[in-house]
Amino acid sequence: MPSPRDASPQLQDAMDDMADAVNRTIERMLPETDLAEAPLYEAMRHGTLGGGKRLRPFLAMQSAFLFNVDSSRARRVAAAIEFVHCYSLIHDDLPAMDDASLRRGKPTVHKQFGEATAILAGDALLTLAFQVLGERETHEDPRVRCELIRELAMAAGGHGMVGGQMLDLIAERDDVDFDVGEISRLQRMKTGALMSFACESGAILGKGSEPHRRALRSYAHDLGLAFQVTDDILDVEADPQDTGKDTGKDEEAGKATFVSTMGKEAARARAEMLVAQAVSHLKIFEGRATMLKELAEYVLARRA
Ligand code: IPE
Ligand code: IPE
Ligand code: MG
Ligand code: MG
Ligand code: MG
Repeated sequence: MPSPRDASPQLQDAMDDMADAVNRTIERMLPETDLAEAPLYEAMRHGTLGGGKRLRPFLAMQSAFLFNVDSSRARRVAAAIEFVHCYSLIHDDLPAMDDASLRRGKPTVHKQFGEATAILAGDALLTLAFQVLGERETHEDPRVRCELIRELAMAAGGHGMVGGQMLDLIAERDDVDFDVGEISRLQRMKTGALMSFACESGAILGKGSEPHRRALRSYAHDLGLAFQVTDDILDVEADPQDTGKDTGKDEEAGKATFVSTMGKEAARARAEMLVAQAVSHLKIFEGRATMLKELAEYVLARRA
């Protein structure tokens, strides 16, 4: 969650309230169990509960607010998105990928439960997300449920997050030299696609108009990239005590990031430009999207 020095008091309150509500939904969907497969559920709970800024759920809830969607439905979609995000982090931290030992201020899932359980916990969270979207409580109209499922699959799979993660690994190789355009594509896929789905999900639930949906996609397009640029800056300059995760990993792995290609200052300037652009797409909502505007500004100021 944002710390007071990063977020405005209004944004801080809104994020805290949303996080409490979404955490309760996640908790209900992942009850403790004494079945023989209990370690799987413990690992899933470890990877999802007790930490995280809950940024994607916030985007989904704010989007739903714009279309007057019932908040219990929106919370289910927000939880599904967070499940996919948490799965992506569990797998991202594995030794075969970024080999990280700290996440959200705690040992990574594979450090705590072993690699095999971490892989399975990720798999189970990914599939749970689609189960939740497919259930009637998410929306009574099956066409809406199908659209949510299809759009999340597009955002999470080879055309989106997983494809971006593949490019991220390829870009580590010494014989590969990505230019700024290729790095932008990589980052939009690995980070932007899921955020974009989060931003559009409220419009899908609320059957919003195409111009409204386009505005949200455009906002998310710029916000997602700005978010990953600041993530790369934080990897260079932040303290693990603030971020709750290992830092210095990108340089260690020889990853291609905006920072490695254009330097910290130019990367920050790029993020500022992207945030201004993101905010400009919100005009169509005529003042109802204040929290989305503030969130974009927080992405620049964040320390975690
Ligand atoms: C980290 O995402 C992974 C990226 C896509 C950069 P967040 O910074 O949103 O992580 P949590 O959810 O707050 O832990
Ligand atoms: C991960 O990006 C993006 C995902 C899809 C999980 P990073 O590897 O930069 O995320 P952190 O810095 O480990 O959170
Ligand atoms: Mg990574
Ligand atoms: Mg990583
Ligand atoms: Mg990073």
